[in-house]
Amino acid sequence: MKVAVIGTGYVGLTTAVSLAMGGHQVIGIDLVDSKIAQLRQGRSPIYEPGLEEALVSMLGQGMLDFTTKIADAQEADVLFVCVGTPEAADGTANLSYLEAAVSDVQSLQRVAPRSRVVVIKSTVPVGTGDRIASELRESSDLHIASNPEFLREGSALQDALQPSRIVIGTADETAASVLEKLYEGVSAPRIATTRANAELIKYASNAFLATRISFMNELARLSEALGTDITTVARGMGLDSRIGPEFLRAGVGYGGSCFPKDTIALLQLAQQHGVSLSILDKAREVNATQPIWFLQQLHKRLPDLAGKQIAVLGLAFKPDTDDIREAPSLKILEALQKAGAKVAAYDPIASPAVRAIFPQVQYADSPAQACQGAHAALLVTEWKECVELDWKSIKASMESPLLFDGRNAWPSTQLREAGFFYTGVGKS
Ligand SMILES: NC(=O)c1ccc[n+]([C@@H]2O[C@H](COP(=O)([O-])OP(=O)(O)OC[C@H]3O[C@@H](n4cnc5c(N)ncnc54)[C@H](O)[C@@H]3O)[C@@H](O)[C@H]2O)c1
Repeated sequence: MKVAVIGTGYVGLTTAVSLAMGGHQVIGIDLVDSKIAQLRQGRSPIYEPGLEEALVSMLGQGMLDFTTKIADAQEADVLFVCVGTPEAADGTANLSYLEAAVSDVQSLQRVAPRSRVVVIKSTVPVGTGDRIASELRESSDLHIASNPEFLREGSALQDALQPSRIVIGTADETAASVLEKLYEGVSAPRIATTRANAELIKYASNAFLATRISFMNELARLSEALGTDITTVARGMGLDSRIGPEFLRAGVGYGGSCFPKDTIALLQLAQQHGVSLSILDKAREVNATQPIWFLQQLHKRLPDLAGKQIAVLGLAFKPDTDDIREAPSLKILEALQKAGAKVAAYDPIASPAVRAIFPQVQYADSPAQACQGAHAALLVTEWKECVELDWKSIKASMESPLLFDGRNAWPSTQLREAGFFYTGVGKS
């Protein structure tokens, strides 16, 4: 099939590459000239394992191309809308990029009218797909479906190729059958439903995962007070098949481009309908305070941080991505700077993006370099290279051997035996 993907960010680029790998002829469209120029040369503007190699291969096979002009998508049977829906000032989803993409689709229809399926992959408030369908119906032969995306940054391509489920939200038979055909070769459970249900499935999934994380983070505070070990508690909970082991890790809180904005957008949507989602509201509150709670553990050991050198290991919101949107590291760096600490940070990929926000921080070339002369080291993102360290030489190079493990990923017993003062999250 001939497919156009509007918006070539994390979701759009991954969608474009994975559909090309599935044998479809794909054109990716973005507003940003430099991004398109880079993509055409086979360079990925984002870091995702395996994505650049697949991009190069699909370009080479002639299955994929990129453009800044919607008019170049004239031959497309299917148009995927993958533009951003960031948080607006009032917490609702900012739909201005989506509106612009829809008006691009309308102008394409004017230039080259024909039957097309428009697939909304961006995460949008319930009712958006129906509204767009009624707006576009007047203009022509367009068939609208909601097909929310569930990929995880850090394993985006793999998730797109082997999705946990494919949700096709539409009552339009043409849209449903075209999408079924498009995803024919992908083995995953299907949910065929209404556009509104599909939209709510996406928000509800993210809200639930965010709530699980906050539940464990709040429980970790109790675990700290009780002297119990939250990692063992989580393991014991996760073996219950009704609970499952995923998303039970206590840490410094969730971040990224989805959970923070999607939880507030869902709260706003509920409020507009006179419904209170109090559990989700509390989950956000716990998340907002979790990095600060973590830093209180550091303050207990080093009450005056002024002039102290602190190593911060990991800056991206999670490992294997360069995305720093709403990363807990940003709150941690801000608080450390406010307290007068000298910060040396390390991240294998995300340092340049963080440097633009915190130019005063020193950016090290390795975790070991960041730890040199440090009064304490903090693990904020559990990149492999920040977890597997030569502890003997780290200990020898630190000013004082204080470790604060914000991801419960360092080997606590081994480190305590080696003479470090080790504090995890909820494992005193
Ligand atoms: N990032 C994720 O992990 C993830 C996962 C699932 C769903 N989502 C959802 O998918 C959507 C996209 O997220 P993202 O992280 O890929 O965003 P992003 O910010 O990485 O990418 C959006 C891209 O759209 C482009 N764009 C904006 N308006 C355009 C227009 N009119 N025409 C062409 N290009 C345009 C931007 O230049 C940018 O490159 C959001 O709604 C998000 O909530 C994201």
